[in-house]
Amino acid sequence: MRVGCFASFGDASVMRIERRAAPAAPCGAELLVGVDASSINGTDLGLRRGDLPPLTWGRMPFVPGFDVAGRVLATGPAVTAFSVGDRVAALLPHRGGGLAEQVLLAQDRAARIPDAVAATDAAAVTLAGLTALQALHRHGRLRARQRPGGRPPRVLVSGAAGGIGSFGVQLAALAGGEVTGTTSAAKTGWVRDLGAHRVLDRRADDLAAQLRVAGPFELVLDAAGRSRHRELAPYLAPGGIVVSVRPLHPDVLRALRPGRADFAAVRTAARSADLAALLHLVATGRLRVPVEHVVGLGDVARAHELAESEGRGKVVVDLTA
Ligand SMILES: NC(=O)c1ccc[n+]([C@@H]2O[C@H](COP(=O)([O-])OP(=O)(O)OC[C@H]3O[C@@H](n4cnc5c(N)ncnc54)[C@H](OP(=O)(O)O)[C@@H]3O)[C@@H](O)[C@H]2O)c1
Repeated sequence: MRVGCFASFGDASVMRIERRAAPAAPCGAELLVGVDASSINGTDLGLRRGDLPPLTWGRMPFVPGFDVAGRVLATGPAVTAFSVGDRVAALLPHRGGGLAEQVLLAQDRAARIPDAVAATDAAAVTLAGLTALQALHRHGRLRARQRPGGRPPRVLVSGAAGGIGSFGVQLAALAGGEVTGTTSAAKTGWVRDLGAHRVLDRRADDLAAQLRVAGPFELVLDAAGRSRHRELAPYLAPGGIVVSVRPLHPDVLRALRPGRADFAAVRTAARSADLAALLHLVATGRLRVPVEHVVGLGDVARAHELAESEGRGKVVVDLTA
């Protein structure tokens, strides 16, 4: 089978195609999935640049890719939830491997793709959508947050044009939040079209003043993972929370300040119920999947280049091309 991989860290040009043996037959509760589409996430770009080396140690050439959408080709003897031929999407574990024509994965990482949802959309929503959903609702408990007088909570999404940010804006608005997004000046209109009530240029000289006018915020989602808590905390309402996608070990967080209620870091969980909920929102037209480019596996270096240079919505790799 073909895989997209890199053998050394660097810019998008290090991405290449290799041939590998197809996975062995599934055992236990594993599914063998024929992959139709995988999407590129900020994490793939960080891994390729060498920003997250522990995840690639001993695994070069490394096959990135955390979301897959495709069809079940075979099932292990303990599989109960899926049958051969089912269309499924899944979040793969930290070893990645989704940029491959076939993958083995545990059935509890997968969800069925509704007929109305294209594989390219299903692949694009998986990691980014799960991260946004879990950040807002599991870590941020958005539904329990209100302003005095029952007014809708104010939500700030920093990095609003990225994969996680673009789902964060939509999911926060769907939950009734009054959403402010920050992004580069050229992308403000694009983020407004996603449903943000207000979009600010993150490089504006008077950004701090504009954030004070837009806030204070009951929930701040740092969807780019670029800000420190102390940079965002001044814009929080009393009792508000900053939720960051910057991956921090729970032990580090506990050491920082035990029991703190104003900060949480997301470690995205492969919950099939959450993925099924996202796919249902897509199927029913309530969540838009902002796929900006679909690129064949043979052009995987270009796909990485597009994802890196644009930082807007999603770039999907078509494994069938
Ligand atoms: N904790 C977890 O479990 C988990 C899971 C998935 C991803 N992540 C992490 O989440 C991050 C975002 O992932 P993604 O897939 O959404 O990435 P992405 O699609 O590449 O988007 C990143 C966004 O960040 C914005 N940005 C770049 N530099 C910035 C800065 N200095 N300040 C504020 N915004 C900046 C960019 O747009 P603008 O030009 O508009 O600013 C871009 O839209 C990655 O670092 C990834 O590793 C963590």
